[in-house]
Amino acid sequence: EKHFSAEQQLNNIKITITAGPTREAIDPVRYISNHSSGKMGFALAQAAAAMGAQVTLISGPVQLATPAGVTRIDVTTAEQMLEAALAQATQNDIFIGCAAVADYRVAQVASEKMKKTASDSIELKLVKNPDIIAAVAALTVQRPFTVGFAAETQNVVQYAKDKLTRKKLDLICANDVSGTELGFNSDHNAVTLVWQHGEQALPAQPKADLAKAIMQHIYAQFSAN
Ligand code: CTP
Ligand code: CA
Repeated sequence: EKHFSAEQQLNNIKITITAGPTREAIDPVRYISNHSSGKMGFALAQAAAAMGAQVTLISGPVQLATPAGVTRIDVTTAEQMLEAALAQATQNDIFIGCAAVADYRVAQVASEKMKKTASDSIELKLVKNPDIIAAVAALTVQRPFTVGFAAETQNVVQYAKDKLTRKKLDLICANDVSGTELGFNSDHNAVTLVWQHGEQALPAQPKADLAKAIMQHIYAQFSAN
């Protein structure tokens, strides 16, 4: 049993968190996105603020209220999220990438609504979006302690570890989203924290409780760094 107060533990610590999906336009009325609810990122922001941190939440389009005391920046696309993230990152101690960033965007966004054609199929050319957390982790001056998330359906810890290494992260929260009710729109979640020299499983629990546990681990590793 640890006997310390979570309250105010993060006093004077500045944290940026990305949350939710990004949305990539196809034309003025259509887009590509994903099922991220933003709940995990918002829960992390709430937990960090309750622990005394100064929290900036960069959010894609979600249906969630801003946690008390948190500064929120709303964005739509991955490119907008990258710009906001880089502007915040160098002013912060810890950066947590919880957003489900669209991996690709439409190469040429149509300026007018696309009309249905006589053809039975059409093709959309997609181009890769920038990797936001890798860009933050690659900063050479004022680089924050950088934490990623990985939602996987198989080989969860191994794939997460690959991402940790490839993106040069300090810590990654691996999330098993295979055939369970966990993750995405659920109010419960379980993760395994993975870092270069270890891992720790955090059991399924309400996202608010899990968020506190994750923040405590992040802070412990940030402090030890
Ligand atoms: N991420 C990011 N920018 C991207 C894609 C992902 O910042 N363009 C971040 C996510 O916020 C998360 C981590 O990278 O913290 C892992 O996201 P994930 O989608 O699992 O990684 P990808 O590299 O996109 O790999 P995958 O092929 O599994 O989607
Ligand atoms: Ca991805």
